Amino acid sequence: MRHLLSTGDLSHDEATLILDTAAELAQVGDRSVKKLPTLRGRTVVNLFYEDSTRTRTSFELAAKRLSADVVNFSAKGSSVSKGESLKDTALTLQAMGADGVVIRHSASGAAHRLANWVDGSVLNAGDGTHEHPTQALLDAFTMRSRLGRLEGLRVAVVGDILHSRVARSNVLLLTTLGAHVTLVAPPTLLPVSVHTWPCEVSYDLDAVLPKSDVVMMLRVQAERMHESFFPSTREYSRNYGLDGERLSRMPEDAIVMHPGPMVRGMEISAEVADSPRCTVTEQVANGVSLRMAVLYLLLSGS
Ligand code: CP
Repeated sequence: MRHLLSTGDLSHDEATLILDTAAELAQVGDRSVKKLPTLRGRTVVNLFYEDSTRTRTSFELAAKRLSADVVNFSAKGSSVSKGESLKDTALTLQAMGADGVVIRHSASGAAHRLANWVDGSVLNAGDGTHEHPTQALLDAFTMRSRLGRLEGLRVAVVGDILHSRVARSNVLLLTTLGAHVTLVAPPTLLPVSVHTWPCEVSYDLDAVLPKSDVVMMLRVQAERMHESFFPSTREYSRNYGLDGERLSRMPEDAIVMHPGPMVRGMEISAEVADSPRCTVTEQVANGVSLRMAVLYLLLSGS
């Protein structure tokens, strides 16, 4: 494996190797000195054309914990504002010796294009509405840590599927790992091609909740919406929001996940977000170990 562009490219064994490696590397986070020399002398460039809190900081932390040199490039404040293209920006950074390029971009397919232009490994940190593979991997890691297995797990992914790269990456990865996924959304927030995805679809959250081991809530991505997809936020919240009452109707051991950022009061109530059954901060912590694992597997040369 040279790049990480899509979870659809991962076999069962490759995905399991990443999760197992992350589990080993998580132990580094418990030490007083949280560093390994593994990527000493390697350079990782974080190339972010879209805003990020979790992904950018955890990739930076992950690379630093493996002793790589890290360059953080944000399109804001760079020569992108003078009209420089993605290709020229990438070639400039490569000329400075990047071994790995982590890219987030608003255009679906940007990571794939980049992989044709640079010599180093490309890690897709979110491309438009297409994919976010490390998010899906850290989600799978969190499910496995909390529930002990992925095989046979019933996972509901709820909300704005249409604009979600997290949903697509999770469906592809989780089905490879033996879980059963049901997408829950209003018809207007489902892609037209959803019938070709390897999962079930429902419009009825209340029917799906009692049959789910994991309920993954997604944010409504207003920044990607140029028309109205539902009558009002209040109605959306009433039909597709997760509150304490709905949480009480989930199986006792079932967990609530969210990739973040959350909009409290919209897709998830504050009561649920702060519940011990909600894994949102655990997902963030696992994201560092998981990203250490993919950087290690792609860049260490072993
Ligand atoms: N989950 C996620 O990708 O969050 P950020 O946009 O903050 O990176």
